[in-house]
Amino acid sequence: MSPLVVRPESPQDGPRIERLLDESFGKDRQNRGVYALRAPQRHIRSLAYVGVDTTGQIQGTLRFWPLQIDEQQADQEGDPAAVLLGPIAIAQAHQGKGYAAILINRGLSDAAALGYGLCFLVTDTPQVYRRYAFTNAQGRFSLPVDLGPKKSFLLMELKRGALSLWPTGAALGAAA
Ligand SMILES: CC(C)(COP(=O)(O)OP(=O)(O)OC[C@H]1O[C@@H](n2cnc3c(N)ncnc32)[C@H](O)[C@@H]1OP(=O)(O)O)[C@@H](O)C(=O)NCCC(=O)NCCS
Repeated sequence: MSPLVVRPESPQDGPRIERLLDESFGKDRQNRGVYALRAPQRHIRSLAYVGVDTTGQIQGTLRFWPLQIDEQQADQEGDPAAVLLGPIAIAQAHQGKGYAAILINRGLSDAAALGYGLCFLVTDTPQVYRRYAFTNAQGRFSLPVDLGPKKSFLLMELKRGALSLWPTGAALGAAA
C-alpha cells in the first residue's frame, strides 16, 4: 500500500471528500446532531487537510469548523474562540497506519498557531483521541442539539487558560 502524503485541501477536492465521507459515515451522515455545529460550506479553509496516495487520489480528510461561545466569535484577547474537529476519515485500505494521528496533530498545531482557544469534538470512538489532551465537555458547555447517549462530547485547550474564560453552561454554536 502506497504511503499517504498530507497536503492542504483545495477547492477541487470537494467531490472526492464528500464521497469519502459518505463511504465512512453513510449517506445519511448529515442527519447527525453534530451537523448542527457545522454551517454548510463554512469549514475553515486554512485548517482543512487531505491525505493523498502516490497517484494523487484522496484517501484521507480532516476539516475543522468555527464555533462561537455564548454568541461571541472571539475571546477577551480578540483571538477566535473555538473550533470543532471533524469529520476525519481515512479510507479503509489505509487505516491503522497512523494517518489519522498525523492529520489530527497537524490540525491541532495549526489551530493553536491561528490563535483558537478551545477545540471541541463529538465522537462515538473516544479511543481514537485518547492520546490527546481531550477531556469531557458534557455539562461544561451546552449544545444546540441532543447528541444522544452514545456520543462523547470532548474538549481540549489550545491556549492555556482558555477554558477559564467561559462560564459553566456557556452555549456553543456554529460561528456565522
Ligand atoms: C477513525 C479513523 C479516522 C482512524 O484512522 P486511522 O488512520 O486508522 O487511525 P490511526 O492509525 O492514526 O490510529 C489512531 C488510534 O486510534 C485507534 N483507533 C482507530 N480506529 C478506532 C476505532 N474505530 N475504535 C477504537 N480505536 C480506534 C487506533 O487503534 C490507534 O490507537 P493506537 O495508536 O493506540 O493503536 C478511521 O478508522 C476512519 O476513517 N473510520 C471511519 C470514520 C470515523 O469513524 N471517523 C472518526 C469519527 S469521530
